[in-house]
Parts: sequence; structure tokens; C-alpha cells
Amino acid sequence: MKIAVLPGDGIGTEIVDEAVKVLEVLDLKVELEFADVGGMAYDKHGHPLPEATLKLAKEADAILFGAVGDWKYDKLERQFRPEQAILGLRRNLGLFANFRPAICYEQLTHASSLKPELVAGLDILIIRELTGDIYFGQPRGRRAAPDGAFQGAEEAFDTMRYARPEIERIAHVAFQAARKRNRKVTSVDKANVLETFQFWKDVVTEVGQQYADVKLDHMYVDNAAMQLVKSPKSFDVVVTGNMFGDILSDEAAMLTGSIGMLPSASLNAANQGLYEPSHGSAPDIAGKGVANPLATILSAAMMLRFSLNQPAAADRIESAVKDVLSQGLRTADIWSEGTRKVGTREMGDAVVAAITTKTITKS
Ligand code: IPM
Ligand code: MG
Repeated sequence: MKIAVLPGDGIGTEIVDEAVKVLEVLDLKVELEFADVGGMAYDKHGHPLPEATLKLAKEADAILFGAVGDWKYDKLERQFRPEQAILGLRRNLGLFANFRPAICYEQLTHASSLKPELVAGLDILIIRELTGDIYFGQPRGRRAAPDGAFQGAEEAFDTMRYARPEIERIAHVAFQAARKRNRKVTSVDKANVLETFQFWKDVVTEVGQQYADVKLDHMYVDNAAMQLVKSPKSFDVVVTGNMFGDILSDEAAMLTGSIGMLPSASLNAANQGLYEPSHGSAPDIAGKGVANPLATILSAAMMLRFSLNQPAAADRIESAVKDVLSQGLRTADIWSEGTRKVGTREMGDAVVAAITTKTITKS
């Protein structure tokens, strides 16, 4: 099996290094191949998603992705910006199902900005549709307004759209995921205002009829944003479109204390997947060796579970992460009084050590 490793920009290289260390100590029969992506790829090859990188990503069984982006690329034409690399991978590989779990680790309950009792034991799963909606809808662009109160004025526009099969397949993903959890799906929409999301709601309701064992409810996105901070534990699986999912998943991530802890998976119909931390490239701390590598390490665990069919190895990584947290090791983003502050590499080494110690005790 082949894993394409795309570290990217900012803290990307540092955190991916640690995840690679973890994969190597597990001694799996996998081949890792590295490629350039994001702003650094633009600097080297003139494009954030070079042909060779896309080719490798398509051939691989899974992709381990770091992060892309840096302020210095903000002035580039849109098609050359680092973000286009991740959008291009999603589109070209058809990675429509994005899993963003928000889990509050017992040891980190106090790192949340919410009261501990609201988040203790939190375990929700946001399933975001990732290849449709206003992100990819055509037409889009700038023009002179063809009509309306500002006719003739310069305007910009995007298109929000969803086709029935697109909604059906993500709804199935959500209901099936819920069956492995607490059998509850909340579909988030804006059916009170938007045609696209009335349709979304109708189609999700129809698909839901095939899953009588899963409870389905519907919530407007503004209310969902509120409920997420009011009573986050009332959710189990949340399914929503690309745009709302982008926003709500950041909100949900922060409930857990640190976005530095959260992995994500983006899968296509063939279960090929891209795995990346939920956080970005954090250029402000890049190169300082202080970034939290746990989200990337946990993304590697998701990769083993979803795309490489090695659930036992995934379990070993996840339990090693809990071990290092229990040992009191914390990177700066999750540090609190009474715990030991460590850097990126030290955290990765500790996870590796936790994995090897367990192997020794077992054998
Ligand atoms: C995310 C990011 C991306 C998105 C950006 C980098 C294009 O915010 O993965 O959530 O908007 O989807
Ligand atoms: Mg986002």
C-alpha cells in the first residue's frame, strides 16, 4: 500500500514529521512517498498542486496532508493560492465525505473555553459535504450587475447548488456513521431561506426513511451554531453542506479546547482518503518546534482505520495519545498549570515511546 505524504506549508512539515515517525514505528507494510503542495509547491514549481503531486495522490491508497497557506501568498491570483491545492485534491479525487470528529479528551476538559460540565465527555462527529455547494458551484465571478437595484454596478457572485445524488450519498454516509455511534443525525440547513437547503432537507428526510433505527432531526444553521455552544453534548452526528460545515466544524473543534487535537478524513466513493489535521498552517508559529502534532498523528490513525484497513494499528496510536496526555505532556496550545510543556518533537517522541512500551508489555 502506498501513502502519499504532502506536508505543505507553515507547521505542516513539523507535524507531518511526527506522524511519519509514528507510522514507521508501527512497522506496517506501507510505502511512503513525499510530494510538494501548497505555497512551497508554488514557489518551486509555479503551481500549488503540481501535476506530479496530483498524479501521486491519485495513485496512492491514502494521502497524509499537513497544511497549506501563508500570508505571503494572499496577493496571488486565486488559482495560484495555496488553498487551491486542497480544493483541487478534493475535486479531482472526488473526496465528498469529510469526517470531522470533535472529541473532548478527559485530560483536556479544562482547556475548553466552555464550562467543563458542558464539554466533559463530548464526542460528536461533523460530516461535511466537501465537493459541492457554493464552494464549487458555477457560474461564479465578477461582472456588471445585470439587474436589480444596483444594475450596472460592479458585482461579484457565487452559485449555491446541490444535486439530488450529491445529497443522497452524503446522507447515507451520515446515517451509516450514526449506526456505529448513538444513532442520531442532525441535518443542518437553512431551509427557511434557501431553495438549495429546502431541497437538502427534503432529500435527507427521504434517505432517512431507509434508516428507521436512526433518529433524524433538522436544525437551521444559525440555531445549530447556538446549540453547539449551549449544549454541545446534545449532538451525535451532524451532517451539513460544504459552507455551513466549514464554519460549524471550526466552532465544534474549539469546544474541545484545542483545534490542535482534531484529525479529519475526507473520503471518496472508493474509500480512498485524504487525512489532515483540522487546523491550518499556523505561519505565526512555523519553524519554532512548538506546534501540536497530535491532530496529525490522530489523522494517521484515521487513515489506518478508514483507508488502509488496519484498525488495530489505529487503536494503538489513539491509546498512545491518551497515554501521553495522562502523563501530563502538553504542547503550548493545550498547556495548563501543573502540566509539562513540550515541543512538537518531544510530543511525537512520547507517542512513539508509548506505542513501543505497550508492544513490549504485550509480548
Ligand atoms: C477547511 C479550510 C478550507 C475550507 C480552506 C483552506 C480552503 O478552511 O478545510 O476547513 O474552506 O474548506
Ligand atoms: Mg475551514
